Amino acid sequence: MSEFKKVVFSGVQPTGNLHLGNYLGAIRKFVALQEGNDCIYCVVDMHALTAQLVHEDMPNQIRSIAAAFIASGIDPEKHIVFNQSAVPQHAELAWIFNCVARIGWMNRMTQFKDKAGKDREQASLGLYAYPSLMAADILVYRGTHVPVGDDQKQHLELARDIAMKFNLDYAEHIRKTDYGIDITVGNEPVHAYFPMVEPLIDGPAPRVMSLRDGTKKMSKSDPSDLSRINLMDDEEAISKKIRKAKTDPEGLPSEIDGLKGRPEADNLVGIYAALADRSKAEVLAEFGGQQFSVFKPALVDLAVNVLSPITSEMRRLMSDTSHIDAILRNGGERARARAEVTMKEVRDIVGFLY
Ligand code: TYM
Repeated sequence: MSEFKKVVFSGVQPTGNLHLGNYLGAIRKFVALQEGNDCIYCVVDMHALTAQLVHEDMPNQIRSIAAAFIASGIDPEKHIVFNQSAVPQHAELAWIFNCVARIGWMNRMTQFKDKAGKDREQASLGLYAYPSLMAADILVYRGTHVPVGDDQKQHLELARDIAMKFNLDYAEHIRKTDYGIDITVGNEPVHAYFPMVEPLIDGPAPRVMSLRDGTKKMSKSDPSDLSRINLMDDEEAISKKIRKAKTDPEGLPSEIDGLKGRPEADNLVGIYAALADRSKAEVLAEFGGQQFSVFKPALVDLAVNVLSPITSEMRRLMSDTSHIDAILRNGGERARARAEVTMKEVRDIVGFLY
C-alpha cells in the first residue's frame, strides 16, 4: 500500500470584493499550509463566468485576487499562483468528469439550487457542471488536500465520488499502465489513479457569518455592505461595521457551551479567535464575563492590525500590475507543465489517440 504525494490545491473566484469570510475560511489557511507542503493556489476565472457571464473588468478582478494571495503572505516562487484559464487542461479533464459524474449527483448540490433560484430551467449548463470543473481543478494536479470554507464541503465530497468512480470505471485500463497506486479507501484496497481529496475545513471560523444576521453566511452577494468586512475596507469602515454588528444583550460566556443559541456572539468570538490564531475557548477564557462594549473595541483593534497591512500591500500591488502579471504568467507556465503530465496519462488511460 502506498500514498499519493501530498499536494495542496485551492481556488478563489474573481467575483467582487474579497471579504473576511474568504480570508479566514480560505486564504489565511493557504498561507499557513505553505510550510513544508507543495501548494497550488488558483484564481478560478472560468468558474466566475457561472456567476456572471460578462464582467466589467475581469483582468483586474483576477489580478486583485492574486494580489490578495501575495499580500497575505503566499510565496509565488516556492508555490504556484495562477489563473485557471491559463491551463486549458482543467477544462479538458472537466469534460471527462462530466461524463463520469451522474446527473443525480449534480441534482443534490445545494449551492446549485441556491444559485439557480426558482427558475432552474434558465440556469446555465456551466453553473450545473460547476462542481465537475472544481474536481478537475484539484485532480489535474492529483491534489490531495484542499483548504476551503465550510460551504465547499459538498463539492469536495462530489470530487471524491468522481475520483472514485473514475478509478473503478477505468480500473482495468489503469492496471495496464504503471500510473496507478494501491491505496485503501475505508477498508477497501483500490488501485487508484486519482487520490481521494481531503477537505481542510477546521479552525475557529470555517463559516464566517453575516455581521447583521448570525444565521446567514457572510457573502459577496449580500445587499448590505454592513454585513461583511471587505479586505479593501479602511480602518474607519472596519470599526463602524464591528461597532454596528448585531449582538444580544448578554455578556460573553466563559465556556464554549455558553455560545449555544447565540449565533452573533459565536460568530464574533470565532472571528476573533481566527484572527488571533487562538481557539474560541482561549478567547472566552480571556473575555468571559465581559460586555460587548469591551469585546468589540478589542476586536476592532485586532482586525485592523491584521488586515490593514494586507490592504495596503494589495493597493500597492494593484497600483502597478506588472509584478502581479509576471507572477501569474510564470505560475501559469509551471501549472500547465504539471497539468499536462496528468493529462497525457489520463488520455492514455481513457484510450484517446494523439
Ligand atoms: P469562493 O470564491 O466562493 O470562495 C473562496 C473561499 O472562501 C471561502 N468562503 C468562506 N469561508 C468561511 N466563511 C464564509 N462566509 C465564506 N465565504 C466564502 C470558500 O469556502 C472558499 O474556500 N468553488 C469555490 C472556488 C473553487 C475551488 C476549486 C476551491 C473552484 N475550484 C477547487 C477549492 C478547490 C468558490 O466558489 O469559492
